[in-house]
This record gives sequence, C-alpha cells and structure tokens, in this order.
Amino acid sequence: MRTLLRIDSSADRERSRSRAITAAFAEAWLDRGPEFAVVERDLHRQPVPHLADAALHWPPRLRPADAAVPAEAEALQQELIAELLAADVLIVGAPMYNYSLPSSLKAWIDHIHVPGVTADFDIEAHPLLGRPAVIVSPRGLSYDPGSPTDGWDHAVPPLQLIIGTALQMRVTVLTTSLTLADTVPPLAEFRQRAVAEFEAARAEAVALARQL
Ligand SMILES: Cc1cc2nc3c(=O)[nH]c(=O)nc-3n(C[C@H](O)[C@H](O)[C@H](O)COP(=O)(O)O)c2cc1C
Repeated sequence: MRTLLRIDSSADRERSRSRAITAAFAEAWLDRGPEFAVVERDLHRQPVPHLADAALHWPPRLRPADAAVPAEAEALQQELIAELLAADVLIVGAPMYNYSLPSSLKAWIDHIHVPGVTADFDIEAHPLLGRPAVIVSPRGLSYDPGSPTDGWDHAVPPLQLIIGTALQMRVTVLTTSLTLADTVPPLAEFRQRAVAEFEAARAEAVALARQL
C-alpha cells in the first residue's frame, strides 16, 4: 500500500484553492489503483491544539529532568508523528494568512518537528529522508521577484525549512497568486492571471500525483 497524507488548513469551505488542489492531487493518486490510499487531516475542521508544553519539542530522552508533559498531549503528538512517518507522500495545503501560515498549520508543525525523532539532532538516519512533499500555497496578492512585495512571503519559506531542511523531505512548492481577484473589485484586472496560475498549479499537482 502507498499512502498519501493530505493536510488541509484553509478556513475557506466554499472556494479554497488549496483544498481544490490537494483534492485533485488525492483523486489522481487514488486513480493509480487499489494499492494507493489517502489519509486526510483537516486542521481547520479538526484543529490540533497549541503545543501543551515546550518539552514536547524534544523526545523524552532530551527533555529537562523535571519536565511534566500531559499524557494526552504526548499521545496526540505520537499519533501525528506516526501518521507522518507512515506516509509515502505528503501534501500540505498552506494558504498565506497575514503573510505567514494559518495558525492551525503552525500548531501541526510544532507537534511533528521533533529534533532527534523526525529531524536531525543525535540520530544517524532521517526517517523521512528523500520522501516527496508537496506544499500548495495560494495567496490573495502577488509576491513577484523585484516587486514591492518581493520577500513578504513568510508562508512558504518556513515550510521549506522545516519540511525540506529539517525533515529532509524532497519538497515541491506550488503557489497560485492573486486569488482575491475574484472577490475584491480593485484586483479584477488580475483575474486572467489568477485563473492561469491556479490551472497551472492544479495541473502540476495532478502530474506529480501520477509520478511520485
Ligand atoms: C485570515 C486571512 C489572512 C490573509 N492574509 C493574506 C496576506 O497576508 N497576503 C495575501 O496575499 N493574502 C492573504 N489572504 C488571502 C488568502 O491568502 C487567499 O484567499 C488564499 O486563496 C487562501 O487560500 P485558500 O484559497 O486555499 O483558502 C488572507 C486570507 C485570510 C482568510
């Protein structure tokens, strides 16, 4: 069995671009045959709480001696990590919220990034080394190189650092800009570009789902 872990975090239930793209990826993945499975985790509908205790950033052997971690929080963290480690491919819907990540997604990241377990610290082999991860990041405006908003995207870079650099997964980033052109009148002139970028990102997601 080859398992896709599909993570969504958009708070938009009607017209979310990231949900549309992660859904298209999951559908193409399932179309490959009965040995392809999808596990879905919707961080908006079923939020993961904030990290209950800072000690959870470390495995028990690396925690301060007096650390007292609530058993329930420890169990949830183990469940989230096990779900990630069991996935052959990861896709993460990561819309830009206030130039950064939705807080629901950040809470998940805080649980699954554990040095010495999922990331390097004192371990020889990264458990996720080289596994494919796809980050899908729609954003209402544009952040083109050389434009005044160049460098304002703080949604994708931390995910590349955590999922790519720390977890050592093989990351592909799909962005789609100007998604607000549909609903915000002053951006109406960018509708064509928004549609073109969305269609390109969705097509690339489907192509990836067929080959990864
Ligand atoms: C709480 C919130 C904050 C947002 N902040 C930004 C922002 O800082 N920059 C931006 O370009 N778009 C921003 N947007 C617009 C979203 O990035 C855009 O609607 C995107 O398409 C959301 O992803 P989704 O379509 O998957 O829901 C924000 C939207 C919400 C709901």
